Amino acid sequence: MLLLVLQPTWPRFPLSYWLILAPGIVSASKCPASFSIPKSDAVDHVNPLIGNGGDTPNGSGGMIPSTAPPFGMTRWVAQTHENYVSVTPYNHTATTIHGFQGTHQPAIWMGESGQVVVVPGIGDDIKSKFADRAFGFSNSTEVITPSYYRVDLDVGNGDVILAEQSATSRVGHLRFTFPTGKDAYVLLEATRPSVITSTPTNVTYPTGSVTVDPARREITGANSERQDWIITPTSSATSADHFRGYFCARFDTPFAAWGVVQNGSVHAGADTDTGSLLSAYTRFAEDARIVNVRVGVSFISVEQARRNLDAEIPDGVPLEETARQTRAAWAEKLDRITLEGASKADKEVFYTAFFHTLQYPYEQDEGGYYYSGYDNDVHKGESYTGYSIWDTFRAEWAWLIMFSPERVPGMITSMLQDYQEVRLPMWKNIVETNIMVGTHADSLIAEAVIKGVEGFNRELAWEAAYKDAIIPPENDWNTSYFDREENVGYEVRAGLSSVYAEKGWVADDVHSESASRTLDYAYDDYALYRLAEALGKPANIVTALRDRAMSAPFTLFNEATGFMEARNASGAWAGEDAGWTEGDKWAYSFDVVHDVPTLVRHRGGNVNFVRSLDEHFDGGHNDHSNEPSHHIPYLYVLAGAASRTQERVREIAKANYNNTPTGLSGNEDCGQMSAWYLFSALGFYPVDPVSGEYVVGSPFFDKVTLNLPGREKLLVITAQGAASAKYIRALTINGQAVISPIIRHEQIAAGADVRFEMSAVPESWSGMYLNLFGESC
Ligand SMILES: *[C@@H]1O[C@H](CO)[C@@H](O)[C@H](O)[C@H]1NC(C)=O
Ligand SMILES: *[C@@H]1O[C@H](CO)[C@@H](O)[C@H](O)[C@H]1NC(C)=O
Ligand SMILES: *[C@@H]1O[C@H](CO)[C@@H](O)[C@H](O)[C@H]1NC(C)=O
Ligand SMILES: *[C@@H]1O[C@H](CO)[C@@H](O)[C@H](O)[C@H]1NC(C)=O
Ligand SMILES: *[C@@H]1O[C@H](CO)[C@@H](O)[C@H](O)[C@H]1NC(C)=O
Ligand SMILES: *[C@@H]1O[C@H](CO)[C@@H](O)[C@H](O)[C@H]1NC(C)=O
Ligand SMILES: *[C@@H]1O[C@H](CO)[C@@H](O)[C@H](O)[C@H]1NC(C)=O
Repeated sequence: MLLLVLQPTWPRFPLSYWLILAPGIVSASKCPASFSIPKSDAVDHVNPLIGNGGDTPNGSGGMIPSTAPPFGMTRWVAQTHENYVSVTPYNHTATTIHGFQGTHQPAIWMGESGQVVVVPGIGDDIKSKFADRAFGFSNSTEVITPSYYRVDLDVGNGDVILAEQSATSRVGHLRFTFPTGKDAYVLLEATRPSVITSTPTNVTYPTGSVTVDPARREITGANSERQDWIITPTSSATSADHFRGYFCARFDTPFAAWGVVQNGSVHAGADTDTGSLLSAYTRFAEDARIVNVRVGVSFISVEQARRNLDAEIPDGVPLEETARQTRAAWAEKLDRITLEGASKADKEVFYTAFFHTLQYPYEQDEGGYYYSGYDNDVHKGESYTGYSIWDTFRAEWAWLIMFSPERVPGMITSMLQDYQEVRLPMWKNIVETNIMVGTHADSLIAEAVIKGVEGFNRELAWEAAYKDAIIPPENDWNTSYFDREENVGYEVRAGLSSVYAEKGWVADDVHSESASRTLDYAYDDYALYRLAEALGKPANIVTALRDRAMSAPFTLFNEATGFMEARNASGAWAGEDAGWTEGDKWAYSFDVVHDVPTLVRHRGGNVNFVRSLDEHFDGGHNDHSNEPSHHIPYLYVLAGAASRTQERVREIAKANYNNTPTGLSGNEDCGQMSAWYLFSALGFYPVDPVSGEYVVGSPFFDKVTLNLPGREKLLVITAQGAASAKYIRALTINGQAVISPIIRHEQIAAGADVRFEMSAVPESWSGMYLNLFGESC
């Protein structure tokens, strides 16, 4: 490996210069010893702009080009917008940057919580308000990587502030290079106007505090903003009103003057204040050109933010070293997969997808403790947040089990702590938000147990998940629990008592989204049945769960129309468009992933089932931008039409993923969109994740080599000629022929030799009904 030893004049040459000059090789500034940044072909193919674009928030991945290590607690990003539900802090079409934000917004349809913004500036006037502090920039000056970001901020007269950013999990690291003799300052924004819904006119003024400590060269503070407070369940022990985002920003440059700013009014010399619209700033001696600031972030206290800073980026660590560490952390994960037969664009799509899948859930513990948004208190333990479980139970969780198994026990333990404080999470954005339906934490737990994950309390996990199946939410009979309903209890399985437990469907005249709930609860019951079986629970419990799981979905099947349909409590059909969540009768009528054979029977047998799949796709009903459609292309092969799965999977990948900002057709949803692509590229997908079975699709690349964490043997997937041959002629695992379209987790989890023989024309492999569709082999 090459090492570069730089002159003491280093900062004239920003890191990006070296990244461009000699990718993969970078050295240090002020420190005498030189060091290198690890080479990583995988990390070099991550394009963090993928998924930032889109014409509407729904049509965007909602991803931002942020800097943080895998599962990092705080993501740092250049701020082009004040973010709220439906707006992210960075939009690649913007022409101004307003600061550098430590954000906790986990997805575009979730709110921000406890953010802090670092804003450089020059001149006599301190510019604190968002609009006033706009810097023009050209995206040609941006360098965007997972571990390092830089941009030139235009300050007029041809002068620029060079802003550089890196981060560890709980600490942002910024370095500003100011033009000479221009009275530089750096401002920390603690509180701002907040928008709590996607209605930008509905503004509130969260409060916080700031303190300037010139002796320590620190600006510290707190921010109570939590945009999703409005949907916090009322049955929570409290309203999470102790929640704060705390920060401790420490500078490497002495303070020459300082002050606080409240709603644009500068109070020079003031060193502390509390309230809304609050910032604090420091100026530097005139000859100060290069200023480093590290910002420790905490949900516990300012003291903890300071401890996080000292633990993760101690004094004297240069930005290059922070960037090196974070790059190494990504490389350790992403280099575990190598691709052969993939173009540069394919690699960008693939490795960026991999990068996206390892961001959530994110770390929420600090120094062995965590603030719980479930009981509003600080506890000892490991904690994670950013659980979009209605999305991630499908394939993202299976991906985490394969590529971050070291995190999975902690992620489950975190959910069990939430349970002990209230209930298992549904959509945890620090605090429960009740967003989406179903208690799919049941599925996460069952899948982990069935795949042999150890390191969490299985009995407690059973207790927590079983409670979902038997204890309904409060006021279940007179509360609709519609999407984002305010002032209601923990939603869990709304409708369990009215009338799911008794009749097998959720009543559409009592609950919102009743038909989707019915199908989702049935899957969760199935997950519990499999979990109960795996843990040796009493036979009557196993049987009761299994019976409900298997019968409930078909209570919605309307023989007269051939589709699933919502029902009132009386049993009356409620209409084909009623009761769906982010989908319609087309998608949901294929949503019995735990019992596809019975679904096929209800829909007229294999031939009719495949015809209805064709009608679904050819009629434009498959909406891959939303999760209820994700498994549908994989159903063909389960009805004997393997070639159709192979065609559809390739078509969907092509139409919904690419290496541009609009390269995700729908919201990333904490990794689920990307997990679909990754599994599909490997050639299989967890249609029924709890079963531990993957359904075979069509692998995209000649050869994929996977170095699974904690496994000695490689998983090698060969599919020579895949780019031009999408059909499968034969499949072997470790030399054994596989004739059904199923790969079991244990066949590959410890490494294996998986060989696909590809073909340019449809083949009869696993497709006994092929001839019925007039295809030649
Ligand atoms: C980014 O900004 C453009 C231009 O204002 C807008 O059309 C687009 O919807 C924004 N993107 C997202 C994801 O909000
Ligand atoms: C976008 O998503 C929101 C929230 O799910 C939904 O209310 C809205 O109808 C969607 N809009 C479009 C254009 O799909
Ligand atoms: C960069 O800026 C140029 C000019 O404003 C614009 O045309 C281009 O789309 C931008 N690139 C991205 C990735 O947004
Ligand atoms: C603003 O939001 C609050 C909380 O949801 C709500 O009570 C209030 O009615 C909203 N006001 C407007 C003008 O939308
Ligand atoms: C902030 O100051 C502006 C005037 O600059 C005033 O119109 C506005 O009401 C103030 N806002 C708050 C929340 O104090
Ligand atoms: C539902 O019933 C409970 C218990 O009777 C009552 O306290 C609550 O106010 C009711 N809620 C609504 C929305 O009617
Ligand atoms: C279902 O319930 C709703 C709400 O009570 C009612 O308006 C509708 O007429 C019912 N449908 C049937 C078919 O009974």
